[in-house]
Amino acid sequence: MNRRTFIQNSLVAAGGLALGGRSWAGPTVPTLPGAMPADQIARTRFPGGFLWGAATSAYQVEGAWDQDGKGESIWDRWTHTPGRIASGANGDVACDQYRLLRDDVALLRELNLKSYRFSISWPRVLPAGTGAINAKGLDYYSRLVDSLLEAGIRPFCTLYHWDLPQALEDRGGWPNRDLAGYFADYAGLMAKHLGDRITVWAPFNMPWWFTWAGYARGFNPPGRANIDDFLKALHTVALAHGTAYRALKAGSSRASVGSAYAYEPAYPKTDSDADRDAARRFHLLNNELFLHTAKHGDYPDAFPGGVPYEAMGFRGGDQKILQHPHDWIGAHYYLRLAISAPTAAPRPTPGQRHIDPMAQCVVEQLAVGPRIGNGTELWPRAFYDMLMQLNRDYDRPILEITETGVVLPDQPDLDGRVHDPDRIEFYRQHLAAMAQAMADGARVRAYHAWSLLDNFEWNDGFTQRYGLTWMDPATRRRVVKDSGRWYARVAAANRLDV
Ligand code: FCB
Repeated sequence: MNRRTFIQNSLVAAGGLALGGRSWAGPTVPTLPGAMPADQIARTRFPGGFLWGAATSAYQVEGAWDQDGKGESIWDRWTHTPGRIASGANGDVACDQYRLLRDDVALLRELNLKSYRFSISWPRVLPAGTGAINAKGLDYYSRLVDSLLEAGIRPFCTLYHWDLPQALEDRGGWPNRDLAGYFADYAGLMAKHLGDRITVWAPFNMPWWFTWAGYARGFNPPGRANIDDFLKALHTVALAHGTAYRALKAGSSRASVGSAYAYEPAYPKTDSDADRDAARRFHLLNNELFLHTAKHGDYPDAFPGGVPYEAMGFRGGDQKILQHPHDWIGAHYYLRLAISAPTAAPRPTPGQRHIDPMAQCVVEQLAVGPRIGNGTELWPRAFYDMLMQLNRDYDRPILEITETGVVLPDQPDLDGRVHDPDRIEFYRQHLAAMAQAMADGARVRAYHAWSLLDNFEWNDGFTQRYGLTWMDPATRRRVVKDSGRWYARVAAANRLDV
């Protein structure tokens, strides 16, 4: 399950809420409405050299799950376990990018893109997670990077987008702190072999979510539901960010390191102190935990009952491992949330709202703005708020938008084209909000749409389409959607009125 599906499944809109753009971090800012005005969209321009991009991840697009010496990952094991994926789908072939690499680089080119965010499958290059390199696996990424560079596209590499080598899960998975060392070895090897050509590295994609979903709740592999395992996993991953940062820098003098964090702007539902504090806790845990910890060498004061150092297995000297800079910050944006403190006896109506047991707050999705796709609220103002908040809290960092996108039930029409006007509207609005944030000081240098093409959407199989390109899971045929054509024009012109 991905984070959005989880939220969509556990919430329905709390209609009628009008927060007017209030953010817990600052004063009420009612000047910009949720939607961007048409004349502002028409005037929007982006700087020359802005990096227009698209994102994917290894398990979701590569396929070739057991080819050329690749080891098994926890997602291979999960999808091959009967009953785990409702539709019975798996990523064995996915979009077949392993074979269609050159076609997909040509596709990126056709879309005028200048940055491709992909991930390396750890078990493809190190089948057992540690030890000997699988030369064929490494060669695949080397060819991918060369093709991208030949096409004038920047390779943006995520090292871990959730496909842990099963061999390491068998050794305890992320709760085993040895993984911080294995991950650093893997990062160092990749920097050594690919760091002459890859300069932008993100050790992790959404570290809070994969540890939470995999170890605390069991929605995702390895399917454990144990808070102690989760807290240990969290600490190992935070340590691993520090160890990987150092290994990447040691392996390549050109390495520029950040990570890809999921951000869900968290607005207090009311002005009460209790709701503000609940939103603060939710934000610090779900959005900022790893950034905060890297900056301060310590966890934020947001856990119920204080930071659970003992349960995490925190040791003397860990502060030094945890603390390290980010050369840039990567953030995903999909939706905003309203957060409130639980009342004395929190009894969420099933399907109406959801209690976050770690932040101990009530999480609701809003529906003040128009809803598109499977119910996502269009509220680009929250994207603006998020960028400005990062700008304030992290001293004007360089920002990479690592993902944004929307799921729609696309199908080719009788004319063979895929008409997805809602997706165009989603991107138009959010790009205008981003341009406003840039004009107000946010240093955004790249924007990656999720996704280059429809792909294997985790527990939802192929049913959830996020692509700029439609992909037929039976034939792997690709058809650029109207949104892809529109995005290509934006990328060429650096403006939105195209
Ligand atoms: C993000 C994930 C990505 C995909 C999109 C829809 O949370 O990073 O793999 O599932 O959501």
